[in-house]
Amino acid sequence: MTVTRRTILGGAFALAVAASGSSFAAKPLVMGFSQVGAESEWRSANTASIKDAAKQAGITLKFADAQQKQENQVKAIRSFIAQRVDVIAFSPVVETGWETVLREAKAAKIPVILTDRAVNVADKSLYVTLIGSDFVEEGRRAGRWLADYAAKSNKPVLNVVELQGTVGSAPALDRKAGFEEAIKGNPKLKMLRTQTGEFTRAKGKEVMEAFLKAHGKDINVLYAHNDDMAIGAIQAIEEAGLKPGKDIIIVSIDGVKGAFQAMVAGKLNVSVECSPLLGPQLMKAAQDVVAGKPVPPRIVTEERVFPAEVAAKELPNRKY
Ligand code: AHR
Repeated sequence: MTVTRRTILGGAFALAVAASGSSFAAKPLVMGFSQVGAESEWRSANTASIKDAAKQAGITLKFADAQQKQENQVKAIRSFIAQRVDVIAFSPVVETGWETVLREAKAAKIPVILTDRAVNVADKSLYVTLIGSDFVEEGRRAGRWLADYAAKSNKPVLNVVELQGTVGSAPALDRKAGFEEAIKGNPKLKMLRTQTGEFTRAKGKEVMEAFLKAHGKDINVLYAHNDDMAIGAIQAIEEAGLKPGKDIIIVSIDGVKGAFQAMVAGKLNVSVECSPLLGPQLMKAAQDVVAGKPVPPRIVTEERVFPAEVAAKELPNRKY
């Protein structure tokens, strides 16, 4: 009997059997995964989760690191199509500019799963599902925490600076929008400056230095779109002779161990969780898709908010 491999998008399934005599052995499913890069503690945990989960599930993973460049992701996806993988998954560095390559995957009948970040395409049939956080809600949670803090503060107005993530990326756009929604019209909160820190510690530090140079002690609050930028900014604040977490209140997102350590040290005030542990859900969705089982178009990760007061208790339980 001959080996057959079929992958059909839509009522998607793949059948891959190798048969000899009367015994059948399933061929391992092959996934091509294009990762954003290695820009943050979060991203490293996300990569580890995907690699571990693939191993656990017996899925052959072809992993490509795009080094934060969309053109590298497009190249990787084209190479996965050429290799005829069973399923393509990726975390898109930015939201726009994906139609052409996703149409190529669709034409090749290879299903695409998005993890972590969204794409902005009119034709939603270009991907099967998006697995990951609700970034707008994360921004709202950060904004709500700050609004509560401001309500208790005896200062009439708190001046806020914002370190945004990668320009054009879903988490940067959504976390900004959610935060703005939560603090809109709040007379006690004033946005002084906002600029990208590219989700990295080095850039977070550099931009915070510039903010401090321009506004010095007028800055009361830093809102960072991720913990790495907050940790970089903490260094800048200390080097400027100020106390992070006290002179400047710091609100950030991710909930990585580094942030918990900073909270325990009194240098960060709150971290809104964004879980990178998406590997198991991704592998399950991939298996379902190729088996022709229905997969919901959106799988949202459950997350919490961790203020500094609970950090010492929670730190030993953190998985990333
Ligand atoms: O897309 C998720 C974001 O990307 C994380 O918040 C950030 O740390 C990462 O680089």
